[in-house]
Amino acid sequence: MLGMDVAAACAQRGYDVQVHDLPEFDVTNPDHLRQAVAAADVIINCAAYTNVDRAQSQSDLAHRVNGEAVGRLGQLARETGKWVLHVSTDFVFDGRLDRPYVEDDRPNPINEYGKSKLAGEVLLRQSGCSHCLVRLEWTYGRHGRNFITKLRERARTTKALNVVNDQIGSPTATAEVAQAFCDLAEQRAEGLFHFASEGYASRYDVAAFVFDHLRMEMDLRPCRTNDYPAPAARPLNSRFDCHKIEPLLREPIAPWQRPLEHFLGEL
Ligand SMILES: NC(=O)c1ccc[n+]([C@@H]2O[C@H](COP(=O)([O-])OP(=O)(O)OC[C@H]3O[C@@H](n4cnc5c(N)ncnc54)[C@H](OP(=O)(O)O)[C@@H]3O)[C@@H](O)[C@H]2O)c1
Repeated sequence: MLGMDVAAACAQRGYDVQVHDLPEFDVTNPDHLRQAVAAADVIINCAAYTNVDRAQSQSDLAHRVNGEAVGRLGQLARETGKWVLHVSTDFVFDGRLDRPYVEDDRPNPINEYGKSKLAGEVLLRQSGCSHCLVRLEWTYGRHGRNFITKLRERARTTKALNVVNDQIGSPTATAEVAQAFCDLAEQRAEGLFHFASEGYASRYDVAAFVFDHLRMEMDLRPCRTNDYPAPAARPLNSRFDCHKIEPLLREPIAPWQRPLEHFLGEL
């Protein structure tokens, strides 16, 4: 999902973009990785094992893709002097903090996906390559299934929906993320950053906003995360403090409602 928008944004800014994806390119294959790194000036890694619930039973694969492969990418980048932008997640946190997370807050993942993503962060840092790590949360975009598109799908088959109101975060458009990545790449920015749309909402608030804007009738009912046990635990507080990244961006970060309105208008 994200990679498609990043590739489009980079191409729009005039860069020669090469996209590598399954099945031709497997990030866990050292030869594939070596060739891709050798052919690039800068590397933006959006590849990941992203199925949060399935990662509980496929933790080996999740760790190979999100952890080991990222460490290997870092080593190859260091050997060849390439800059890497790598994507991480709010799921490295346990969500128990009572304020938005800053980059220095201690990670403590509560599921296998989060652990594998944290392993990737650590291994990339240990590789010693020049890199930028950007944590994202609650992303949605045109090229993949996500919380927003799933809401719309559900509305086709049901007129009543329970949505959790105790998970708080910021829905963030991949199109906005892509512009931020271009800004960071142009500066070869280094360090760890949080990026999310401005403002916070519960998943219930976001669902209400979506159905309202799509003028879809829906009997929306708030519920708690604990009412719907899933294989993987979810952090309740996904709020990011994004002050650190802001000076590096061309445009101020927009409130979450604005890109979401735009996205819904395009659907
Ligand atoms: N979605 C969110 O809410 C969210 C939140 C925070 C952070 N992130 C992070 O954002 C980044 C982009 O995720 P996304 O939302 O765009 O998810 P996505 O649509 O699942 O994209 C991940 C891509 O990686 C590919 N991939 C998986 N295993 C691979 C392998 N071994 N070799 C090469 N490619 C492989 C997937 O291919 P297949 O589709 O063929 O499997 C897919 O194209 C990830 O780092 C993710 O952890 C996402």
